[in-house]
Amino acid sequence: MAIRPILRMGDPRLRQVSQAVAEFDTPELHELIADMFETMAAADGAGLAAPQIGVLQRIMIFSVDDNPRYPDVEAVPTTVLINPQFTVIGQEIDGFWEGCLSVPGMRGYVQRPARIRYSGFDQFGKSIEREAEGFHATVFQHEYDHLDGILYVDRLADPRQFGFVEELAAADGA
Ligand code: NI
Repeated sequence: MAIRPILRMGDPRLRQVSQAVAEFDTPELHELIADMFETMAAADGAGLAAPQIGVLQRIMIFSVDDNPRYPDVEAVPTTVLINPQFTVIGQEIDGFWEGCLSVPGMRGYVQRPARIRYSGFDQFGKSIEREAEGFHATVFQHEYDHLDGILYVDRLADPRQFGFVEELAAADGA
């Protein structure tokens, strides 16, 4: 296992559309997933998409449990999703202050569909299908966007609700 460098906004690889994975349960795929988990944990990330480490394949992971970067959100199950898809359930919209390991030190307020049904495969090729809401639904959609070259800063409803974590926290506590 290895911690891989995380690409930062401005790197053109973060703006490309990633390719579907064709083969499951290979040593290369297992190594990649292990590296993604190690890289995400080292950075206290809630999720990570393969293109963030320069691998342009449709793979995402996420996991939230007592995360110091997201202390106020509910837990999200540790998940590997390959070739994911999703559909929106209902009209409800939810908003969160999102961050991204590719946009370090910043947060922005993003609104997304509150309830979704998603599906995909794990690294063994086993299919996964779930309904998600709240932060779980947001994390999925944030990571899914990475697979299409989209960053959360593209989805800010109001560019004034975007800034550095310390300044936002200081303003909130003032
Ligand atoms: Ni991100």
